Amino acid sequence: MKILIIGSGGREHALVWKVAQSPRVSEIFCAPGNAGTSQIAVNVNIQADNIPALLEFAKKNKIDLTIVGPEVALILGIVDQFKAAGLKIFGPSKGAAQIEGSKVFSKNLMRKYKIPTADYLSFKDPKEAKAFLKKIGTPVVIKADGLAAGKGVLICKTEDEAELAIENILCKKSFGEAGNEVVIEEFLCGEEASILCFTDGTTIIPMASAQDHKRAFDNDEGLNTGGMGAYSPAPIVTKELLNYVDSQILKPTITAMEQEGYKYSGILYVGIMVTKDGPKVLEYNARFGDPETQCILPRLKGDIIDIIEKILDEKLTSATLEWDPRPAVCVVIAAGGYPGTYKKGLEITGLDKARELDDVIVFHAGTKLDSSKEKTETRCLTNGGRVLNIVGIGDDIKAAIDHAYKAVELIHFEGMHYRKDIGKKALIKILKT
Ligand code: AMP
Ligand code: GLY
Repeated sequence: MKILIIGSGGREHALVWKVAQSPRVSEIFCAPGNAGTSQIAVNVNIQADNIPALLEFAKKNKIDLTIVGPEVALILGIVDQFKAAGLKIFGPSKGAAQIEGSKVFSKNLMRKYKIPTADYLSFKDPKEAKAFLKKIGTPVVIKADGLAAGKGVLICKTEDEAELAIENILCKKSFGEAGNEVVIEEFLCGEEASILCFTDGTTIIPMASAQDHKRAFDNDEGLNTGGMGAYSPAPIVTKELLNYVDSQILKPTITAMEQEGYKYSGILYVGIMVTKDGPKVLEYNARFGDPETQCILPRLKGDIIDIIEKILDEKLTSATLEWDPRPAVCVVIAAGGYPGTYKKGLEITGLDKARELDDVIVFHAGTKLDSSKEKTETRCLTNGGRVLNIVGIGDDIKAAIDHAYKAVELIHFEGMHYRKDIGKKALIKILKT
């Protein structure tokens, strides 16, 4: 089979890596990919939001199956367009991807189908939004309706901050069209976890649980980022909690989507806050999470292509997932200045040594090969904010953490930074029990 994977992050390198293990796969293309994917796949210089060019490429190269990484392509309707052209593609339709593409859509869905989430109201009018704010007080969470590159959620501690957020989103249009409407919601306290599942619209199979680390610095300080690390499994997701999430969140969501006329097929990612009143949905994503995928896929046994085909044939009920019991920890190495401005094109050293370590996988994210020395990693350059994802696997979480950091310490580029506490929460929880 010829496979096309769309995207260029660590998630896509992990997907390419996993797909390459399938004996059924003969060739993999990654559009646009990174230096890491170019070692296993053929990188194709087409961006993830250029649907016409991706479609043309897939037709011309007789791609048997396309797997979509980032939300932007799904929300633009890549799945509908590929299917209309008779091509196999894995992911939800444009209508179904609204679950991630519009916060107002997903919040209204949760309210209508009684899926536990934070209380909220949505507004187009800044005056009404501010009046509501006065009523409910702070802390409060303000969210732009549409996609805002992970920056559209503002946690406001004071009324001034909240008013400014409303002003910026609704009046100054700091997120463009994505800010035509805002959701103002209750601030939830607790610990977060990520539950990803495979679904064909009827059967839902949750993957091993994971936890992201969204803040830039240790102890969850600093700005929100795309994710500075993750681990799997997340000890907070006990069997009982997962049963609750399955019956009160996952199943009702899939049923609700079908009832609304958007049968959901692909990956459904549910970000939850485990509050003292039980788990509540923070967000839905219509795709694999990043960086969760980098520590989930190395634990998934078996052939991912078989699972995807069962989903496309609506026969997921006949699938079972098997997991490596050993935990995995993913540490993100970011460029100096990230999540603010940062330099690109800096030389990365130590990758070969890191890769040689046992129980370590080096996934690339924002990297590119120096074109003057193609096909070697001797001149690998930074090309983004989140640059590398180093995964450690171990018999227990402590060993997984140690393996990941041992590799991280071998890698260097100017200004790099990473959190030193990835996995610590899981370790503490396990030591307490
Ligand atoms: P979202 O894109 O909706 O997941 O929001 C990004 C991050 O903001 C989440 O991972 C949480 O850390 C935080 N967040 C979102 N909504 C809330 C909420 N209602 N209460 C507390 N934190 C939240
Ligand atoms: N890890 C959060 C996300 O993928 O959106």
